[in-house]
Amino acid sequence: MTCPLGAGATPDADAPERAHTDFSRDLSYGDYLHLDELRAAHQPVTDAHDEHLFIAVHHVSEVWLSLIVRELQAAMKLLEAGITDAPLKMLTRVVRAQEQLTNAWEVLKTMTPADYLQFRHAFGQASGFQSQGYRMVEFLLGNRRPTMLRPHAHRPDLHSPLQDALHGPSVYDLTLKLLHARGLDVPAEVLDRDLTAKPTLNEAVLQAWLTVYRDPETYWDLYELAEKLLDVEDNFRRWRFNHLTTVERTIGFKPGSGGTSGVGYLRGALDTVLFPELWEVRTRL
Ligand code: HEM
Repeated sequence: MTCPLGAGATPDADAPERAHTDFSRDLSYGDYLHLDELRAAHQPVTDAHDEHLFIAVHHVSEVWLSLIVRELQAAMKLLEAGITDAPLKMLTRVVRAQEQLTNAWEVLKTMTPADYLQFRHAFGQASGFQSQGYRMVEFLLGNRRPTMLRPHAHRPDLHSPLQDALHGPSVYDLTLKLLHARGLDVPAEVLDRDLTAKPTLNEAVLQAWLTVYRDPETYWDLYELAEKLLDVEDNFRRWRFNHLTTVERTIGFKPGSGGTSGVGYLRGALDTVLFPELWEVRTRL
């Protein structure tokens, strides 16, 4: 029989009959992925229908966040060694994972304030504010505030990697070191800056980026890296904005479960700028 899809796509109707089905000794799909543990982690504490959705979206988000942390750390290790090609691929993966994170709001938005109120009492003071994965992403990207370590003080296993990230260079610090290594002028005060603080716009760094953006052929990998970092920040902004809107439509202006003012706090975070010179370069070009 000729398959209309082409020779390589012959329908294989008997496949289920031939597939491997005895897993009494072999590793199965569920075993490999630890699906029992995954399902066991899904534990609503009320009978509210939407609590399942709420937990699922948080779980999925945390899995994407941990993938992002892994990719960022791997990319940073290579950038530190002066390598740019593999990090570009890793950052592309970060960008795609961020898109999945942002899409998750579409599912969560089907939950109304009334649905949410049926289980809100169940999780007390727990809040995404205490997400170690999220803080790790922020720290690696350079948005740092030492007080953000506090919710993890009772868990050395979560606290210690965050503390390391707080005192280590961000992906942007490493990128600026690379600029410097390529002969572009990045001042010592930037290279030796207080890593625990957020970066602020530096005129000399801006001039270095202008050199790159005016002559992309000469500095192609740095140019690509800059645009990739901008993609990451662009997506981060979208996530923050969608979170804010979802929060406002769900709890209005009530305070957050984590103890902040809620929408007011999240609105303030919209002003965060991770890579100031990469935005300003647009204006100056
Ligand atoms: C309807 C659902 C949600 C509501 C009402 C909500 C509400 C809030 C509020 C009010 C805050 C401010 C901190 C506080 O006082 O609690 C916050 C922070 C946060 N939430 Fe959500 N959230 C929701 C869903 C999610 C989901 C699905 C995630 C995914 C991981 C998430 C992650 C975060 C993170 C990471 C922060 C800290 C943001 C920062 O410090 O800049 N939230 N959330």
